[in-house]
Amino acid sequence: MAKIISIVNQKEGTGKSACTANLAVGLAQKNMKVLIVDADPQSDVSAGFGYRDCDDSNETLTALMDAVMKDEDIPSDCHIRHQAEGIDIICSNIGLAGTEVQLVNAMSREYVLKQILYGIKDQYDAVIIDCIGSGNGGIISQLKMQNEMKLTDESWISYQQGKGNEEYQKYMEDLTDMQNHVLPYLQSFCSLEEKGVQERREQQVAEKNESREAVPRAGVEANIAVKDAGKAERKPVAQKKAMPRKETVNP
Ligand SMILES: Nc1ncnc2c1ncn2[C@@H]1O[C@H](COP(=O)(O)OP(=O)(O)OP(=O)(O)O)[C@@H](O)[C@H]1O
Ligand SMILES: [Mg+2]
Repeated sequence: MAKIISIVNQKEGTGKSACTANLAVGLAQKNMKVLIVDADPQSDVSAGFGYRDCDDSNETLTALMDAVMKDEDIPSDCHIRHQAEGIDIICSNIGLAGTEVQLVNAMSREYVLKQILYGIKDQYDAVIIDCIGSGNGGIISQLKMQNEMKLTDESWISYQQGKGNEEYQKYMEDLTDMQNHVLPYLQSFCSLEEKGVQERREQQVAEKNESREAVPRAGVEANIAVKDAGKAERKPVAQKKAMPRKETVNP
């Protein structure tokens, strides 16, 4: 059964699409069959995989969601585009921004994406959903119904353990699967980012120090010059003479 992984962050430009693409490639290199669902109207992941014509195309997630909301049939191939690298993708286009708004008031809105993926997800080992950054909640509402498991804390694991051996066993298997396959890619991706950020920061500090050393005296002299400006010729301010008071004469 496919693991469905949603890459979500409400803040824009935080690397969701980059993470989606890298995770997909990493998992495909491990011989896993991966489907990417581009759920962002900006269609960055679609473009990243070479599909730059999506705004003029009807074969996108937008068309599929619109069809489900109108209670129409969706094509059996679900507009999936196949990549030579073993990564499949359902692209998005700018129309998804409108669909996102309509989803907010749609009947059974949480089930729209679930209906689309229902017949296809089991052909894959992993389905990765690249989400919209900020939105109206239409896309995000889909995710609650999509994720087969969520990573939780120790207390939740103990709760599962108490509930029954079978459920606990399944949870632990899923967790191990996730730790073996998904987390190493996320970790290496994040450490790459950290490394990149650290290197850039060190470079900035070095550049700053260099530029400070290059013009040290000029700055000091300029400061002295400003501080002492006009000191030699400074004259005491002449005291103002008091003006004689006008005598007022009463008529
Ligand atoms: N690990 C990384 N190291 C350095 N730069 C990165 C990394 N991940 C992403 N970026 C850069 O950060 C920018 C934003 O990344 P990306 O488009 O993946 O973010 P996003 O969260 O999908 O944005 P949006 O919310 O607009 O969809 C891009 O220019 C991308 O190349
Ligand atoms: Mg993105």
